[in-house]
Amino acid sequence: MTRCSPASAPDNLRRWWADAVGYQVYLRSFADSDNDGVGDLGGVIAKLDYLARLGVDFVWITPFYPTPGHDWGYDVADYCDVDPLFGDLATLDRLVAAAHDRDIRIVTDLVPNHTSSDHRWFQAALGNSGAAERERYRDYYIWRDPAPGGGPPNNWVGYFGGPAWTLDPDSGQYYLHLFLPSQPDLNWRNPAVAAEWDDILRFWLDRGVDGFRVDVAGGLVKDEHLRSNPQLQAIPPGASRWEQWDCFEHLYDVFQPESQDVFRRWRTICDRYGAFLHGETYHLDPRGMDDLLPPDGMHGGYWFAPMHIEWEPAAIRTTLRAPTGDLAERLLWAMSSHDMPRAPTRFALRSDAGSDQPAAPDGWGAARTLAFNVLAAFLPGTFVLYQGEELGLIDGEVAVADKLDPVGPDSDVGAGRDGCRTPMPWGDGPHNGFSDTEPWLRSAQRPYVHTAAAQDGAARSWLEAYRDLLAAQRDARHDLETAGATVTWTDGGEGPVISYRRGRLVVAANVGDTASEVPLGDGATLLFDSAIACRHPSAAPSDASAQHAPGGVDLLPPASAAVWRI
Ligand code: NOJ
Repeated sequence: MTRCSPASAPDNLRRWWADAVGYQVYLRSFADSDNDGVGDLGGVIAKLDYLARLGVDFVWITPFYPTPGHDWGYDVADYCDVDPLFGDLATLDRLVAAAHDRDIRIVTDLVPNHTSSDHRWFQAALGNSGAAERERYRDYYIWRDPAPGGGPPNNWVGYFGGPAWTLDPDSGQYYLHLFLPSQPDLNWRNPAVAAEWDDILRFWLDRGVDGFRVDVAGGLVKDEHLRSNPQLQAIPPGASRWEQWDCFEHLYDVFQPESQDVFRRWRTICDRYGAFLHGETYHLDPRGMDDLLPPDGMHGGYWFAPMHIEWEPAAIRTTLRAPTGDLAERLLWAMSSHDMPRAPTRFALRSDAGSDQPAAPDGWGAARTLAFNVLAAFLPGTFVLYQGEELGLIDGEVAVADKLDPVGPDSDVGAGRDGCRTPMPWGDGPHNGFSDTEPWLRSAQRPYVHTAAAQDGAARSWLEAYRDLLAAQRDARHDLETAGATVTWTDGGEGPVISYRRGRLVVAANVGDTASEVPLGDGATLLFDSAIACRHPSAAPSDASAQHAPGGVDLLPPASAAVWRI
């Protein structure tokens, strides 16, 4: 695979993201280079060797643009600059160059559904920059008069709960926001907005970034007539944001087909640079994903179904097998992010155990996550780790008084999104070596054993296991490329073992409660076994190596997975 020469990549080369491995950096919490308690671009530069050693092909960095920070960076006040908190454009240039030196590509986060209310476009639209500017920018956003009897123009609710409309008292009109009132939605039916964004994309591509993760990719264009959504039931008092959302059939606010025209246009731009255009495609149905990912639209999109399952064989199997055909190779597989509880936290709770199993970092949650990740890493598409996943981390502990997520208090995802956003535990010392200063998000100190320093070079640590997994996946790239996207599921569709073949590779996981056999035939070479690679809760090292006795059948302990070449 030719790497890190996007401008010169001939069209007939395989797309660099096929079977690549990404790593999500939640910038504020990754690494703090200037000791102000906030992670920054300099911190990412300082950790590039760590990322290279882990074996990732690209890094997705969450927004670093100037922001008032009401949604911690997803409220952008200027799309073509860097917030001083995170560095400056020169730091970004240094990061891109240093990453490319290590064969790592840089993917940035685009937030096109909404701006910050501090953005000069919105300020101008409000009339704060004079009448001429108001005239020019008013239609960059979505304004409507109140409903005939007063109140919001339609019944839309926001993803963060409450009405999706806020009144501008000066004009007497409402503006639309699918998220916070300080995140006004752009009017993507205005061609001037689309033209601005063409320039924004080129600005970053010309600086050398290698792709974009598109925030709220199912949003952007809204129904032309802003019709009310059919209401399925009255909103119960005290309903969480998701319960409010689920009271409506979302026919008119999200997933409008016209958004694809935006991505077709962006695809043309990105293809000229060999850049990877992919979206936050929040749809849990493969048919919906198909609609979001037409062949001439974004190259790929995140598949969120695995983030919503418990450790239960049927659910795991379904989320893995549901995407078929061309869709399967356009998916990004991620088990954790800055928006969801970490997978080891989710998987440590078992429905059949009455949800009373404590989440244990060295326990079942992390082992189950690794087993799932083995299955995902060899499927067609792109596999993405979230920072700290390689350390087997569960969510950090954030005291109620220290929560910062704007949707934290009434969120139905446990403690809100703060727990998965706590600073990376790099080593010992105060704040686990993240910063000498109190981090922006206060959280409980993690035990040293859960830090990168403790796990680096330590036999059977999570970090070493993930390094081995990514090395095995990289070694198998030729097999994966030769096999193409064809996957044959070999487990019969039921039982505790989930297994598939992709060319010469056999990948199998035991998602049941007891050890299970995997038939292999003679001559299979073991490439990776999670129960050997990590401190697996059910197997001592000696047991683990004994299970690979020759004879055509291997024994997988529960919550483990392995890969063979046959
Ligand atoms: C998805 C982002 O991942 C999330 O963090 C953010 O709050 C919303 N989009 C709004 O931008």
